[in-house]
Amino acid sequence: MFEDNPGRFEQFSLEAAGIFLDYSKNLITPKTLQLLFDLAEKSQLKDRIEALLRGDTVNNTERRQALHTALRASTSSTSEYAQTVAEVLAKMTSFVEAVHSGRIAGHTCAKFTDVVNIGIGGSDLGPMVVTEALTPYHIEGIKTHFVSNVDASDICSTLKHLNPATTLFIVASKTFTTQETLTNADTARSWLLNWSGDQTATEKHFIAVSANVDKAVEFGIAEKNIFPIWDWVGGRYSLWSAIGIPIALAVGMDGFKRLLKGASAMDNHFATAPLMQNMPVLLGLMGVWYVNFWDADTHAVLPYDHYLRFFAKYLQQLDMESNGKSVNREGGDVGLNTGPIIWGGAGTNGQHSFHELLHQGTRLVPADFIAILTSHNPKGQHHGLLFANCLAQSRALMCGKSLQQAEDEISKMGYTDEEARELAPHKAMPGNRPSNTLIVEQVTPETLGALIALYEHKVYVQSVIWNINAYDQWGVELGKQLCSQIYDAMSNNGCGGDLDSSTTGLIKRYQCATTKPI
Ligand code: F6P
Repeated sequence: MFEDNPGRFEQFSLEAAGIFLDYSKNLITPKTLQLLFDLAEKSQLKDRIEALLRGDTVNNTERRQALHTALRASTSSTSEYAQTVAEVLAKMTSFVEAVHSGRIAGHTCAKFTDVVNIGIGGSDLGPMVVTEALTPYHIEGIKTHFVSNVDASDICSTLKHLNPATTLFIVASKTFTTQETLTNADTARSWLLNWSGDQTATEKHFIAVSANVDKAVEFGIAEKNIFPIWDWVGGRYSLWSAIGIPIALAVGMDGFKRLLKGASAMDNHFATAPLMQNMPVLLGLMGVWYVNFWDADTHAVLPYDHYLRFFAKYLQQLDMESNGKSVNREGGDVGLNTGPIIWGGAGTNGQHSFHELLHQGTRLVPADFIAILTSHNPKGQHHGLLFANCLAQSRALMCGKSLQQAEDEISKMGYTDEEARELAPHKAMPGNRPSNTLIVEQVTPETLGALIALYEHKVYVQSVIWNINAYDQWGVELGKQLCSQIYDAMSNNGCGGDLDSSTTGLIKRYQCATTKPI
């Protein structure tokens, strides 16, 4: 298609909110896109985007809005939540500046040097991935740490290196009932009180971000140190709220506001650009094209940037907890494939790990390459090589290597014709494997905010086409219920009611290995 149309790159590329999207290496023609836009039309996508942005209850099963865009709207926004958002931003600003100045300090009046965010899922991944991605912007003198797993090795390996006198804990939990977070918070509080020997230390060293003020107060957090989060913000869409306090402590409130500004720029593009020139819509529709017409089960996100190496981890919750659904909005069987498995990792490392499957495996894996023009660490050939590798991979996926090309290449290496014929099939590559390349000038708070908002809106676009609710997550409830039943059974010698023989057998093995009762 490139040979037939020299202008293909220009035709299938787009710029918005500081992001350049080259989607010319996709398996699309103008007709493909037209049909996909017809599908969008039939799905009333434009109306559904307006519904999302004006605060309709798009989360129909929980009767909630999904107004993460209100968290980053400009101060002149007419949103019903503008005032509330402004108040919390002001409270965050005052808190962050006080911690940085030492006006807010620990039990011994020592300045905080370390912040430990205790949360999981949307109360961990967003702040963690963004804080890591913005490493070049970190303020001297304060380090952020993220504890999420109920595995004690997580919190123990973090606390091992910290000084209680200068450690601030953030208990981030919208519900303040999440088992992992409460268990870690209890351990953190014990660690602090063992050092201080004084209950009042909790008030000085703990803050909370939660919609459940009563539970946070019950834990021992002073009401003035509780930052609100609301039901109209989903957990995996909440890094723009006070859940983002670790980000603000790491890069400063100005940096945090720049992140919001970047996301807002993408929101404006999403709200105003015609569908055919709308970046989240294009990414969303092409994703539908691969999932539903090419049977692609997964989608790879490959950032060619060390600081963005956890980006796919973040997108896993954003996309898979949103669109990992098999029931449509009316409660019927959705009847087609929905959210893909999101995976990936930083380039160039992936080239030495899983790219073999991308090039010669039996599956079609659409990939998003994310490339940066200007490194935060310009040094010799490093960045040029990184960028060249990124382009080489997307070109290799597209062009592949024919049997004849492989044979010719092998013959030139001194092999006999017979050997060349034998080896060629093993070196040939089918090609025609699609990818997008997203380019940002540099990873800054603005471009990062825009990039994340781009994927948030892409996920929503796909949920509209599939007619599913992107904002609930009922599927995680059963595991939590069963865990309580199994944990009780483990405490009562393994006889846990109607448990299957596998679970019962496994509990017994645990009990044999465990010398101490739980
Ligand atoms: O994974 C289920 C989930 O509810 C996520 O949606 C959420 O981000 C996470 O658990 C943590 O929930 P909370 O912030 O209420 O502790």
